[in-house]
Amino acid sequence: MQSDSLFRPFSLKSLNIKNRIVMAPMTRSFSPNGIPTDVVAAYYQRRAEGEVGLILSEGTVIDRPSSSNDPDIPHFHGERALAGWQRVINAVHQSGGAMAPQIWHMGIMDNHHSGWVPPVPFEGPSGLNRQDFVNGNTMTDKDIADTIAAFGKAAADAKRLGFDTLELHGAHGYLIDQFFWDVTNKRTDIFGGKTLPERTRFATEVIREVRKQVGEDFPIIIRLSQFKPSNYQNKLAGNPQELEAWLTPLADAGVDIFHCSQRRFWEPEFEGSDLNFAGWAKKVSGKATITVGSVGLTGEFMAAFRGESSEPSSLDELIRRMDRGDFDLVAVGRPLLADPYWVQKIREERTSELKGFTKEALGELVLG
Ligand SMILES: Cc1cc2nc3c(=O)[nH]c(=O)nc-3n(C[C@H](O)[C@H](O)[C@H](O)COP(=O)(O)O)c2cc1C
Repeated sequence: MQSDSLFRPFSLKSLNIKNRIVMAPMTRSFSPNGIPTDVVAAYYQRRAEGEVGLILSEGTVIDRPSSSNDPDIPHFHGERALAGWQRVINAVHQSGGAMAPQIWHMGIMDNHHSGWVPPVPFEGPSGLNRQDFVNGNTMTDKDIADTIAAFGKAAADAKRLGFDTLELHGAHGYLIDQFFWDVTNKRTDIFGGKTLPERTRFATEVIREVRKQVGEDFPIIIRLSQFKPSNYQNKLAGNPQELEAWLTPLADAGVDIFHCSQRRFWEPEFEGSDLNFAGWAKKVSGKATITVGSVGLTGEFMAAFRGESSEPSSLDELIRRMDRGDFDLVAVGRPLLADPYWVQKIREERTSELKGFTKEALGELVLG
């Protein structure tokens, strides 16, 4: 396995990272009352020590009363939570890493299994989280304006605390994605519509506000997925033309990097080509892209939530696509959750030391 192409530096605007490997955002629910602890800081610092190029934090929620369905998911607002994030980014920088918070609003959710519910009902474009499942309110014009402002405030705080870039969570059926999807966006105002570009309006307004807050030189990443947890086969964009019509307004609003979430990176996005989602996104938008999905593992992540284990697997197909120029960066989730030193092991070709992934790793913040 020749992994050199993963170990070239990458620069975009003010972001400079030492290699092409990105830690994928992974919710851990180890931040009681939304406040990241010192163990959370140590967890991210360990990945910086382990030579991850860019660390994306677990999703961290904006200042809306029902932006989260879990009290242990970190907030990205409030003095104590932001002080916790300050400790995280300082620790990561101390160890030579770079990091972005993944800024999140969950939208309409299932209630948490613990029985905890936020102080007010969930909010979303039409109260829906999937087909025929209503569990919250349809957002008013004021709710939408306040939510856009809260995304902007979080972005300003990310820059102020010293993060290197930020990612907006626009994937996996959460708030921004609920606006994209016609199954969950039934609005008849300017935030709805029959076409995907029309339903992209909310995202573009969020991105414009974020850009206003962070200035021109600070890169903005948005994570997108065609699939939804309730529908793996879903395609928001059915062909390259529809993909271009979706991404162009997002790029025009200020996105620098598209993070294209798939469960398996090798799956072709459209018929007639082996290009994956990140490959097509780069081709139609001209922007930098991040690929993700079962890199270095045999099984995919949704099955991991059901307890399925994965073995280490070859990176050859990933490298083939990277060398062809399909994408710029590669996000790695579970291997880095389970092993802070995964990147070093790849670089030094210590293949026999790779661990794979078992569900036990979900139960703790693995530090060594
Ligand atoms: C425990 C866990 C938590 C996750 N939480 C998030 C999240 O907060 N935000 C997000 O965009 N994706 C989340 N994901 C998806 C990952 O970012 C990634 O896309 C997925 O795990 C596929 O990468 P992998 O096959 O390398 O693990 C999570 C995945 C796992 C395993």
